[in-house]
Amino acid sequence: MSRDFNFKQELTACFGQPVSENPTQVMIEAAYKYHRLEWRYLTIEVAPDRLAEAVSGARAMGFAGFNCTIPHKVAVIAHLDGLGESAAIMGAVNCVVRRGNELIGENTDGKGFLKSIREVADPMGKRVVVFGAGGAARAITVELALAGAQHFDLVNRSVSRGLELAELLKRKLGVSVEFAPLTGGYKLPENCDVVINATSVGLYPNGDARVGFDHSSLRPSMVVADVIPNPPDTQLVRDARKIGCRVIDGLGMLVNQGVIGIKYWTGLDPDSGVMRRALEAIFAE
Ligand SMILES: NC(=O)c1ccc[n+]([C@@H]2O[C@H](COP(=O)([O-])OP(=O)(O)OC[C@H]3O[C@@H](n4cnc5c(N)ncnc54)[C@H](OP(=O)(O)O)[C@@H]3O)[C@@H](O)[C@H]2O)c1
Repeated sequence: MSRDFNFKQELTACFGQPVSENPTQVMIEAAYKYHRLEWRYLTIEVAPDRLAEAVSGARAMGFAGFNCTIPHKVAVIAHLDGLGESAAIMGAVNCVVRRGNELIGENTDGKGFLKSIREVADPMGKRVVVFGAGGAARAITVELALAGAQHFDLVNRSVSRGLELAELLKRKLGVSVEFAPLTGGYKLPENCDVVINATSVGLYPNGDARVGFDHSSLRPSMVVADVIPNPPDTQLVRDARKIGCRVIDGLGMLVNQGVIGIKYWTGLDPDSGVMRRALEAIFAE
């Protein structure tokens, strides 16, 4: 008796340059395997001047979608057929999804963060301090504003970048925003509800680096989040845990943006525990 074979897998990918150190494949393929999906997630180096061809290639080969990382998050928009709401506000796409014959750009960085924070607190009406004003800060603040956060205190090293994000949040989302330059003496407002490190401070190999503000102003009532996935137990995470804050680490955000990407591409809600354990295993090596 013969059986039906299927040697054609559904394709997804990450386009970036450099991209070889990007660990997304590990968690996504762990989920595909666990859920017995005949799908693949490829890590593909795409130079900026070949991005148009890469997107055409993905269309021609019927990719279900792909992630975009540095330096393609803004440039990819010119090659797509439409954008989701938050990606349009941010002007950045990190997840492309094939819907019918169209490629639609979404941004799952902020949505992954939102999913993580909702596991511990509802952002509605909250006062949020955000360190950083780069891509991660932009994605997180736009998504939190759409979810009803009331006020942002943006704190960034570069004043021009900080003011630019403050302006975007006020103009496009009508939220209240104050900007402060990042200095070692910055104290968290007593009544802030959520504190987020969205800078790259603390990323491997500088895992012991501290975000330069007065950590003695942390209070146990605050929800503290860090975007750094490797190592996940940053100084901020450790300081916040020590005094009893509810804490969200960067691995949680990374896993949750992958969960949302898989849901967009396959329609399936993957097991986030399988994905987190796959990443923890490689970071522990
Ligand atoms: N967990 C996740 O799923 C996830 C998702 C996306 C990103 N991330 C992480 O988020 C971090 C930021 O990514 P991004 O895309 O936002 O990068 P980015 O656009 O380059 O922005 C970097 C931010 O970090 C600040 N910064 C860098 N070095 C600093 C220092 N020594 N002191 C103070 N501030 C400093 C920059 O301040 P200036 O404006 O002054 O330069 C800027 O605000 C990365 O480490 C990335 O791994 C995590």
